[in-house]
Amino acid sequence: MKGDLKALLKGKLDSEDIAAIYKSYDVIGDIAVVRIPEQALHHSEAIAEALILQHKHVRSVWRQSGPVTGDFRLRNLELIAGERETETVHREYGCLFKVDISKCYFSPRLAFERMRIASLVEEGNVVVNMFAGVGCYSIVIAKHSKVSKVYSIDVNPVAVEYMRENILLNKVVDKVLPIEGDARSIVERVLKGKADRVLMPLPERAHEFLDSAVSAVKSPAGWVHYYGFEHAGEGEDPIEKARGKAASVLQRLNVGFEASFGRVVRQTGPNWHQLAIDISVKKRIG
Ligand SMILES: C[S@@+](CC[C@H](N)C(=O)[O-])C[C@H]1O[C@@H](n2cnc3c(N)ncnc32)[C@H](O)[C@@H]1O
Repeated sequence: MKGDLKALLKGKLDSEDIAAIYKSYDVIGDIAVVRIPEQALHHSEAIAEALILQHKHVRSVWRQSGPVTGDFRLRNLELIAGERETETVHREYGCLFKVDISKCYFSPRLAFERMRIASLVEEGNVVVNMFAGVGCYSIVIAKHSKVSKVYSIDVNPVAVEYMRENILLNKVVDKVLPIEGDARSIVERVLKGKADRVLMPLPERAHEFLDSAVSAVKSPAGWVHYYGFEHAGEGEDPIEKARGKAASVLQRLNVGFEASFGRVVRQTGPNWHQLAIDISVKKRIG
């Protein structure tokens, strides 16, 4: 769930302070996470109060100081109100995701994109999710499509532990297979040529793993769902930039490909976008 923090603070803060704060915030289960710029830090309590008033079930309000970082893509969090609790259960499209937001990546802002991917999955498809986190894409796919198997890899052992719990919570034991480790080495060892679809939800680094994603695709053909971050200045199309970046890697591999669909998943900063590109891959024989 996301909301408009500027609207919540109207009449509580003066317009200059409202102009300085970010409009969006996240509610993950019963935890709210908000980013507050330095100049508005003295309003932290008022901001937390407004959030708790708006979302009656929220028990903790955390300030996220900076972007997600490191291999595990974690948030740096400081408690500003309520209980010192970072574990919660988030509900999305009838799925439950248990997560510790200080130890695992989780974003409720990807809900639509997860459902979009699930709607593309055909009966009997085998999916490889290279960067599965606590299992969100994999579980939405298992619940909302007739997928055969979703191999779900993550390098963060804590995320994989939550993924195991979430697989049980959502009763998708027969469909989602959690695998702890580095996506490249797991694909190389056990998943070459297995997938109808490969998901790459690691936008900062997906291009580095495209060769590995392609090697996971079945012969003669399959799909790679690629994600990227792109800056787009005036007159630039971020979707075209992401397509171009993916194409420059794919051209060096011995495959045919068409980046047939692209969309902006969300805006991540002024002129910065997260993109999704659906790429059909045709393997050449010999
Ligand atoms: C942006 S998060 C996406 C998680 C999940 N798909 C979601 O939507 O919540 C990226 C995930 O990739 C994992 N990761 C980073 N490098 C990895 C690697 N080399 N192999 C496997 N997983 C990796 C991180 O631990 C993190 O959980």
